Amino acid sequence: MPRTLSVIKADIGGYVGHSAMHPEVLALGREQVERAVRDGLLIDGQAHACGDDLFLIMSHDQGQDSERVHHFAWDLFIAGTEVAKKLHLYGAGQDLLVDAFSGNIRGAGPGSAEVEYEERPSEPVIVFMGDKTSAGAFNLPFYKMFADPFNTAGLVIAESLHGGFAFEVHDVKEHKKIVLNCPEEIYDLLVFIGSPARYAVKRVVNRSTGEIAAVSSTDKLSLIAGRYVGKDDPAAVVRCQGTFPAVGEVLEPFTTAWIVEGFMRGSHYGPWMPTPVAQAHPSRFDGPPRIAALGFQLADGKLVGPRDMFDDPSFDNARAEANRVADHLRKHGPFEPHRLPLDEMEYTTMPAVAAKMKARWSEM
Ligand code: F6R
Ligand code: MG
Ligand code: MG
Repeated sequence: MPRTLSVIKADIGGYVGHSAMHPEVLALGREQVERAVRDGLLIDGQAHACGDDLFLIMSHDQGQDSERVHHFAWDLFIAGTEVAKKLHLYGAGQDLLVDAFSGNIRGAGPGSAEVEYEERPSEPVIVFMGDKTSAGAFNLPFYKMFADPFNTAGLVIAESLHGGFAFEVHDVKEHKKIVLNCPEEIYDLLVFIGSPARYAVKRVVNRSTGEIAAVSSTDKLSLIAGRYVGKDDPAAVVRCQGTFPAVGEVLEPFTTAWIVEGFMRGSHYGPWMPTPVAQAHPSRFDGPPRIAALGFQLADGKLVGPRDMFDDPSFDNARAEANRVADHLRKHGPFEPHRLPLDEMEYTTMPAVAAKMKARWSEM
């Protein structure tokens, strides 16, 4: 019987400012997930924090888009918001964009990444948790994992990966999707996914077996709300080993601190720093953006783990690189390419300043 691993996440209040999550909110998340396991809704579940976001990792047999599982996550975020309000945490309930749950968490603010799978005799998975960046940030790492032989040796030398992977790409503005097959369509794929603000990789599938290899959350808060409410801070789930890239091939892309959008006021480019969960508290210029990776072995749907995968000195260089890149970009202050282009900024005073200065412009 297929099982589902659902990661549903939201920022329901920050401590202090947008830097981290208060332990009481996390404790409530853990308690409620444990209760859902006891009540039989979930086979297993855990709650974790990356920066100011709460990530619910839920294993169940209710299928993707399960109303019961989504409703549970929504109610938990509402209860967590009450704790955040009591403690006057910053931006309590900020990602909860609708007044009431109506069947599915998608379109309501929280992000979701769900994988349906037939559990293999051994099922290693990695759950990635991002903070201070946008949906689409996984485009480049997914490309490296599933299409770049300089990253993933198995694409060249392992029979089980050699048939390539298919990428399901979402146009987040037009609400359309397309599937592109790698390796033969990589040039076409890159035309789209090289622009992550518009095109986000939702799913990757092993073409030889049809199995889902990876899923990311592509929910765009600003497009749902029609205004800036906070960054998407995406999640991803990646299956590893055998017919998928090995754990080390899945983590290898993060030995580079890729530049992503987000950082201060969601309006700057900054380096995506891989850190252990204990260091995923973006405090400098509300950043640099963070990525944490929790590894699990699934055993009859139980989550054996986590192992904190970036708690490894082999990512020290990437962290040092992130700090160097952040120093360099920060020197640009309000100038592009540190600041995002005008139409991508989440905060702007442009309409007001343009209106105030309108009469002062003259023909040259
Ligand atoms: C980034 C983020 C923060 C805030 C910033 C200002 O995703 O959430 O950088 O944008 O701290 O927050 P406000 O406007 O609430 O004072
Ligand atoms: Mg926040
Ligand atoms: Mg956040």
